[in-house]
Amino acid sequence: MTARPIIIDCDPGQDDAIMLLLAFAAPAELDILGITTVAGNVPLNLTQRNARIMCDIGGRQDIPVFAGCIRPMLRPLMTAEAVHGKTGIDGVEIYDPETPLRPEHSVDFIIETLLAAADESITLVPTGPLTNIAMAIVREPSIVPKIAEIVLMGGAMREGGNSSPSAEFNIQVDPHAAHIVFSCGRPITAMGLDATHQVITTAERLAAIGAIGSDVGRAAHDMLEFYDRHDMEKYGSEGGPLHDPCTVAYLLAPDLFTGKQVNVAIETQSDLTMGHTAVDFWRVTGRPENTNWIYKVDADGFYDLLTQHLAKL
Ligand code: BDR
Ligand code: CA
Repeated sequence: MTARPIIIDCDPGQDDAIMLLLAFAAPAELDILGITTVAGNVPLNLTQRNARIMCDIGGRQDIPVFAGCIRPMLRPLMTAEAVHGKTGIDGVEIYDPETPLRPEHSVDFIIETLLAAADESITLVPTGPLTNIAMAIVREPSIVPKIAEIVLMGGAMREGGNSSPSAEFNIQVDPHAAHIVFSCGRPITAMGLDATHQVITTAERLAAIGAIGSDVGRAAHDMLEFYDRHDMEKYGSEGGPLHDPCTVAYLLAPDLFTGKQVNVAIETQSDLTMGHTAVDFWRVTGRPENTNWIYKVDADGFYDLLTQHLAKL
């Protein structure tokens, strides 16, 4: 089997950080061409540093890391320190990482890599606001046919919003970018809150990660312990939902996820519901299907996969 070429676009964030570790642990399946970072959970100067810290921790200093857009396309940046702490990855030691920051802009890297690739060959894995991906599409529309598929974390239907009553954070931060990406015409699989809220880090699952006993296991455990606190209080749940790793888990084990082909449109007009994902689950609009909307996850299977992979690093 040849490894699937992917570009990961992220805004670490503890759950982005765990997503990176999971991807690092699957080199036979995933060929990570680059990690592009964007402003989101915390400002860009922190998300790019955090991605590089994760490359250090995961022993993958070979993967090129790029800094991208410093703010959303039209709206002011909204960050989420209340969830992730002021560093974005509170729970691990913060230092100046060895993994270098590449000089090119994330958007340039995405464009150049896709232009040099065959049609339908590269999978994009965005787990933050979609600014970098949308900017690349707007600047160089001829990259679109090169995209095999986009497997992203974003949106909400049945669960309602987590950063406004009706919007999920990644889409609310840059709804205009989300509109561009969801209308690009390439296949999209979306891990919205309907899926990720099923993937809860219970005390038992957290203990299994801690019991790995390696530096990676400890880092993952300590980040999740910090990150869970906020969501446990917010949702009254047993643990926090592990959003972003669902994307990579889907690439590794799609059978853990159940989805339906639907139309997803993005609200970009209303202040009240800005960034809402209008998911036409019952196909009442006649709008064309553009998204595999994941609505069911085998959570035990997900945590087994995650724990087994983290143990490999
Ligand atoms: C998403 O927002 C961020 O806080 C997380 O990293 C995740 O990508 C969940 O709404
Ligand atoms: Ca994220």
